Amino acid sequence: MKQIIFRNGDKMPVLGLGTWKSASGEVYKAVREAISIGYRHFDCAFIYGNEGEIGTAFSDAFNSGEVTREELWVTSKLWNNQHRREQVVPSLENTLANLQLSYLDLYLIHWPVCLQIKSDFPPKTTDFIPLSEIPLTETWKGMEEAVKKRLTRHIGVANFNIANLKAISEGASLAPEVNQVEMHPYLQQETLLDYCKQNSIHITAYSPLGSPDRPSRLKDGAEDLPVLEDRVVNDIARLHGCTPAQVLLSWAIMRGTSVIPKSVNPVRLLQNLEAADLELTSEDMKRLAAINKNHRYINGNLWVQKGSPYSLDFLWTN
Ligand code: A2P
Repeated sequence: MKQIIFRNGDKMPVLGLGTWKSASGEVYKAVREAISIGYRHFDCAFIYGNEGEIGTAFSDAFNSGEVTREELWVTSKLWNNQHRREQVVPSLENTLANLQLSYLDLYLIHWPVCLQIKSDFPPKTTDFIPLSEIPLTETWKGMEEAVKKRLTRHIGVANFNIANLKAISEGASLAPEVNQVEMHPYLQQETLLDYCKQNSIHITAYSPLGSPDRPSRLKDGAEDLPVLEDRVVNDIARLHGCTPAQVLLSWAIMRGTSVIPKSVNPVRLLQNLEAADLELTSEDMKRLAAINKNHRYINGNLWVQKGSPYSLDFLWTN
């Protein structure tokens, strides 16, 4: 499988397993199966609520001799209620304890949004903290400390637009190396992708299949527009004798991004892994470029309710 090479020479496999929405009771089996068929990159987060079960799967896989820690790439994310500088290292230590690891490969600020420690999920108006109180630069200092303590080898962000990337880069002693954002042919984000390429920030594409299993509170009632059912995607799949999901995953890899499809199903886990070997033609890429709709499945509405200091413009406008 192709690898993303970091500044220090570390290598991240371009295709990893997403674990958002992987339920307790299912995720252990999914991670063990994924490791056994060759996945070496796992995308986790504190807020997914399943890091403990994933940790047991890692530990059992290491103890069985199937794989070593050094052969895996593990990412996790700092939750929004832990943005104060002094909260970052303890949050990461908690994630490491859950995952039964001594270090992460990559730790990301999950959103450029701050919440009170005791915030609800979904949050109430009084749960928000404005960035004037805890600037992203303060959170980033905590992230840099985590690298210095060797708790993570790399740091980055998720859901950051260009303005927010610029905000943390100013005065940073370590530049962000990754921005993980929603990306698929219905949300191609060319401007952000170009900016990140020019600034050596690697993009990881999340919800590459259009996140059909996302919770209903994240569906805004608008037409759902499932990218897996797109006519062009399905036509290209027919031409290659592969599945629509494989076309979407190959599209992401061919654009130079890494990609983290979620599955807990053994057949789809293998199908998704095999997509890393599919080569689309330049004609396929041209046809896919033309189906962009700037459509977000994860639209950030949770963070912009009445009374919140955050807005969709703040989150997404480049
Ligand atoms: P399952 O976990 O049952 O396989 P995303 O990565 O965009 O969040 O999408 C995840 C959703 O897509 C899940 O509902 C997952 O279901 C489903 N999925 C994963 N792989 C495939 C595939 N190859 N074909 C169709 N659906 C898939």
